[in-house]
Amino acid sequence: MSAALLLTLVAPLSAESVLSPNAPPPPPAEAVAFANKLLAKMTLEEKIGQMSQVAMNTDDRKGVEEQIKAGKVGSLLFITDPAEVNRLQKVAVEQSRLHIPLIVGFDVIHGFRTIFPVPLGMASSWDPALVERAQSLAAREARSVGVHWAFGPMVDIARDPRWGRIMEGAGEDPYLGSVIAAAQVRGFQGKDLSSNDSIIACVKHFGGYGAAVGGRDYDSSDISDNQLYNVYLPAYRAAVSAGAGSVMSAYMDLNGVPATGNKYLLTDTLRKQWKFQGFVVSDWESIKSLTTHGFSADESDAAIRAVNAGVDMEMTSHTYNDHLPQAARERKVSVATIDEATRRILIAKYELGLFKNPYVDADRSKTVIGSQEIRTAARHAATEAAVLLKNEGNLLPLKRDLRKVALIGPMIDSKQDTLGSWSLAGDVASTVTLLDGLKHALPSTTTLLSTKGVEIERVQPSIFDAQFASPKPQLKTDAERKQEFDHAIDLVKQADVTVLALGETQAMNGERASRSSLTLPGEQERLLEAAVATGKPVVLVLMTGRPLNITWASQHVPAILNVWYPGSEGGNAVADLLLGAANPGGKLTVSWPVDVGQVPVFYARQLTQIPDHPETRYWDGSSMPLYSFGYGLSYSSFSITGLTLNKTEAAPGDVLHASVEVENTSDREGSEVIQLYTHQRAGSASRPVRELKGFTRVTLKAHEQRRVDVTLNTQDLAFWSPQTKTVAVEPGEFDLWAGDSSDATLHQSFRITSISAMKKK
Ligand code: NOJ
Repeated sequence: MSAALLLTLVAPLSAESVLSPNAPPPPPAEAVAFANKLLAKMTLEEKIGQMSQVAMNTDDRKGVEEQIKAGKVGSLLFITDPAEVNRLQKVAVEQSRLHIPLIVGFDVIHGFRTIFPVPLGMASSWDPALVERAQSLAAREARSVGVHWAFGPMVDIARDPRWGRIMEGAGEDPYLGSVIAAAQVRGFQGKDLSSNDSIIACVKHFGGYGAAVGGRDYDSSDISDNQLYNVYLPAYRAAVSAGAGSVMSAYMDLNGVPATGNKYLLTDTLRKQWKFQGFVVSDWESIKSLTTHGFSADESDAAIRAVNAGVDMEMTSHTYNDHLPQAARERKVSVATIDEATRRILIAKYELGLFKNPYVDADRSKTVIGSQEIRTAARHAATEAAVLLKNEGNLLPLKRDLRKVALIGPMIDSKQDTLGSWSLAGDVASTVTLLDGLKHALPSTTTLLSTKGVEIERVQPSIFDAQFASPKPQLKTDAERKQEFDHAIDLVKQADVTVLALGETQAMNGERASRSSLTLPGEQERLLEAAVATGKPVVLVLMTGRPLNITWASQHVPAILNVWYPGSEGGNAVADLLLGAANPGGKLTVSWPVDVGQVPVFYARQLTQIPDHPETRYWDGSSMPLYSFGYGLSYSSFSITGLTLNKTEAAPGDVLHASVEVENTSDREGSEVIQLYTHQRAGSASRPVRELKGFTRVTLKAHEQRRVDVTLNTQDLAFWSPQTKTVAVEPGEFDLWAGDSSDATLHQSFRITSISAMKKK
């Protein structure tokens, strides 16, 4: 085979751009025709009923049957009992005038009953195929009980770890965030929405929710055009292009206009520019709260402005049912707008196959839920998501011939904390805690000593974690606390090695769970310092949904393994990692600050004055993060050399191939993530110091060596320029780095020869 032919085989020129993807396809003509026919029979009130969703975990559930019968409900949320889903579905299908089935939504965020690691952890695998499969398994479990629609993926880019919802997304980077967003949509929706394994995805929270001022949940997002187009919007667009069937509007205001009443976002951007084909749902009461924003004069005005901005369905509040009929009669909302919204919802129901088969086979859930296949996938995912931050002297994996191991920490036997936040339907009882996992995995010759050492005072669980609502633990007396603390240190002294599992309780992450400090809550730091002071080897295992201040630990603790909230099989997975049955290979998808005062800190900063000394930008400390974006160790070691590019001149739209020689220089199989970063040297605007533009996770056997190819689609170099107000790939010189983190040092350069067709924003 000639070299030229070989190149065309390995280098498709049409690989889709991650950051400027194609528009999604329109819905099938047959679905549109079906919806139109039905629409022609509907009264105004029935149409508006389809646009209304009722929450089954609030008082609204009272009398819901009557509402359904009257055609006033199109959707339910927070209902997961298949018998109950069928009962209410029967009311809709048999007793409402037009027999239109309900669509049932639920927060399927990182698993349904079987819980996978939290999304920030899943993204840390840098493995889109793994993420896709996890969401397809979550979809299978959810659909088996009659849930048709996931309120995910959450694709909000977040650069502030104080924000509790950073845990629900993929981290700080628009490229990685876009790849992970699209993978989640593919996973949830599969190839056929009517299949038993598929549910509709909902891209949230549109748009820019992750930029909450001060990291305070629900606070405003004030985002420049430069940041909006180049950092915050791409991941939503990638999810839309992947065919997401729905989008959720956000709570906060974006640059002064509430997202739920924001026509620029919901119509001009989403519909007109991105050609979104699905339906938009509000967030929980976010239409009603347009009045709270000081935006709408009253609830009628709120309904009118939301629907006119582009919100098709209202979640939980009743402003649509209460006010849109009158507003339509007064022509404040056009019938065409109402028809369009209803049509989109009917098309979704049609594509789900609900008109043909509205019911769920309740027996099927018994075999689907918690199957061996799903549990194994959850365990594997938790090992892939873990990030090894430090491993001095190869303390990990633990030696097999240890006499005594101590496992200490406030969450070592807490099922709810192992699952993490947003695991509302998670099977708590079958969750494997760290204590369970280690007990099971340690050889019988090793004694496991365990105690909590300290307690974390639990903040009151929010309504979203109702299943975990339990009375606050009785506060211990000072003497009892001292006794427990001393007991823990005593165990450290007795053990050959101590695993100290510290972090945050699950309720400290997620919605309404921002923190103003990143320190280990409670007395955990003191426990850590006392354990280290014994001189015995200590491994720190972190359970968290955000970067925490572990600066002292990074200097004094030999081994640090961040397992996030690892999910249903968490304890088994952590034991696999600690004992070497699995090898960590995850990489951070958020820069890990030294201290909260550095926040926001992210790798893709701008190059400005004295760029060689970015570490000196604070008078009282470094301005560089403790651990960089893309960083993570392994029990294996790798050498990455010989960066080459298949060509050094390219036109916009060309696909470049960078390749490096990767060698596993250790005796253990392991995986490494090869990351490509670029920098545009000059142009109409200055560009970040580095930007991720490609990556691939590879697994190499002990001492295996392989040339690894990473694709760079030059279309992904396009950016929105604040000068030209257009998106384009600009001609000129680019730097390229390849390596195992955003600090990669292998360097090449290439040239873009001509300007791409410009697109108006
Ligand atoms: C509010 C949250 O912001 C959103 O993410 C979630 O999907 C809805 N509540 C429903 O639980």
